[in-house]
Amino acid sequence: MNLNLASKTAVVTGASRGIGLATVQTLTAEGVRVVGAARTITPELKETGAYTVSADLSTAEGVATLMDGALAELGGIDLLVNNVGAGDDVELAGFLDTDDTQWTRILDLNLLSAVRATRAALPSLIERRGSIVNVSSINSRMPAAGPVAYSAAKAALAALGKSLAEEFGPRGVRVNTVSPGVTRTSIWEDPDGFGGKVAAGAGMEHAAFLRQVPQAFGITTGRLTEPREVAALIAFLLSDVAGNITGADHVIDGGTVKTL
Ligand SMILES: NC(=O)c1ccc[n+]([C@@H]2O[C@H](COP(=O)([O-])OP(=O)(O)OC[C@H]3O[C@@H](n4cnc5c(N)ncnc54)[C@H](OP(=O)(O)O)[C@@H]3O)[C@@H](O)[C@H]2O)c1
Repeated sequence: MNLNLASKTAVVTGASRGIGLATVQTLTAEGVRVVGAARTITPELKETGAYTVSADLSTAEGVATLMDGALAELGGIDLLVNNVGAGDDVELAGFLDTDDTQWTRILDLNLLSAVRATRAALPSLIERRGSIVNVSSINSRMPAAGPVAYSAAKAALAALGKSLAEEFGPRGVRVNTVSPGVTRTSIWEDPDGFGGKVAAGAGMEHAAFLRQVPQAFGITTGRLTEPREVAALIAFLLSDVAGNITGADHVIDGGTVKTL
């Protein structure tokens, strides 16, 4: 299938590793001119040939730095991938252990980063009849399974996508949500990350914890989703091949969500 993305420009947030990096790799391989942002510019991101911006996207200033840089570099934006999320503050804490500071930090990164980037990109997206993909999570459908503020932020992000699709669809902008299940990234694989902390909390060795994740999470395919698989779905949804798909939430989870 030819996605016909070669003449397009894109902004990808959270681009230094994981799903964001895989998305940049996929889009640049399609010939898209990409601006990728994260706090750290990794060698892997540099290798893609994308233009990079180092910014803290949990702040309004950081998002403004990215979007100003992207518009200056690209001249206009056809495609926006609001991927940045999770972040340093996601802990497996209960509601009473999550204070206002944590709520604010999680909402800033997982929801407001997308609000701010979208607001800045929309004039260009409208002019170019562009497309947005927001990366949510199956936690928005299974909030009991995850950290409370993260799940709420991801559910709000999915709702935002629907609102944006309705408001801007008549002006030629499509907006979709991609909701991954457990995906093989540093969130799970970094011993100091979320997965490492959950393993420690369960009194398990990290590698043993990772091995039992498919069974523990009820992943029907028996394996984690790979970042490049999420990236392929994102690239498809961004492309005109998906020209009549908008306002939808696309789950990619190996069958974890059991309901319709
Ligand atoms: N992996 C999963 O199982 C899974 C499941 C469902 C949904 N998701 C969602 O998928 C998206 C990508 O997750 P991932 O698994 O690829 O995560 P990841 O491997 O931890 O990558 C996160 C990316 O975001 C960047 N980032 C984090 N905090 C940032 C900040 N304050 N400012 C700028 N950049 C920041 C990181 O770079 P720096 O740290 O260098 O800034 C990195 O590039 C997230 O929205 C996540 O919620 C993931």
